[in-house]
Amino acid sequence: MKPSLFARIAFYLLFVLSSTRADEAIAFRPGQIWNDTSGKPINAHGGGILFRDGIYYWYGEFKEGRTYLAKVNKSWGGTRVIAGGVSCYSSTNLYDWKNEGLVLPSVADDPDHDLACENVIERPKVIYNAKTKKFVMWLHQDSPDYSAAHSGVAVSDSPTGPFKYLGSFRPNAGVWPINVTAKDQNHDANNILARDFQGGQMARDMTLFVDDDGKAYQFYASEENPTMHVSLLTDDYLQPAGKYTRILIGRSTEAPAVFKRNGKYYLIASGCSGWDPNPARTAVADNIFGPWTELGNPCRGTNADLTFFCQSTYVLPVTGQTNQFIAMFDRWNKWDLQDSRYVWLPLEFDTDGKPMVPWRDQWSLPASK
Ligand code: DGJ
Repeated sequence: MKPSLFARIAFYLLFVLSSTRADEAIAFRPGQIWNDTSGKPINAHGGGILFRDGIYYWYGEFKEGRTYLAKVNKSWGGTRVIAGGVSCYSSTNLYDWKNEGLVLPSVADDPDHDLACENVIERPKVIYNAKTKKFVMWLHQDSPDYSAAHSGVAVSDSPTGPFKYLGSFRPNAGVWPINVTAKDQNHDANNILARDFQGGQMARDMTLFVDDDGKAYQFYASEENPTMHVSLLTDDYLQPAGKYTRILIGRSTEAPAVFKRNGKYYLIASGCSGWDPNPARTAVADNIFGPWTELGNPCRGTNADLTFFCQSTYVLPVTGQTNQFIAMFDRWNKWDLQDSRYVWLPLEFDTDGKPMVPWRDQWSLPASK
């Protein structure tokens, strides 16, 4: 029996709709609006990924509301949006993300709270501690004018929270870095490291990295931003362990994203230009405490000189796929920060082992070699 015209049209529509859905599900589309599984744009900026028990968790800054011009010391200090806290999304395939809600919300009714929505909550990263079986979040906590420059820490029994906020501080108070020089210890007016020795070092843009031996490190932009610190964490990952080093001294490195490949440590980062893009940079080291050697801008393609109008946030080694890394960037929209987009690109290596990030309008894993 021949199917009716109605049945044939219905079958055709079903086929078109299902193949469109399948096609949509399998590609990254850098810079385009990326909806979660409920159809709403993903809201997880300056983010990072945790993989645990077959599930990827994406944590990021929840930015919602009007972008406004902030005044700092009576002059305009860039644009801001009310801090919403830390959001979390989960996925098994890295393309489809389910909203798990705010796992560390900001605080609306207490302006003195660290997490007050007038304050800054940026670049949250979550790692799992196998010894304590806790999920540990570190973030950049700051005052509205970014002068506090603190690291905040929160902890949870579950990857989807709720996270309990433990407080914030400037790391490594009373400790000199392992590569300190006599000149660095000199308390003259221009010496930020020595100025902050007692009270702790400034910590703004940051990331976390867990090494193969389970030791964890915080990388943070310090000393008013010109110098980055690499700081070992305690075994429970809740505090600095008191061993740190200064790297990329005077290079004003922000937006650190760290990964390891073939025994070497790599850093992708940006320069300091607020929400505006600048050329990305990479560095490599045999030892996480350095020395770190700069390798230049890894971006390839049109607008590579401005990191495709983006800024790094995380590098994800794809579980179960050897030599597959995703370089995650934010494309900030400084006039409408909540509409900032995500740019995920394949991270490749040239024959000398230098990282390269080629532009792709659309791509899927495994990325071509
Ligand atoms: C650059 C940093 O990388 C961002 O996280 C944010 O702090 C902006 N600066 C604010 O201007």
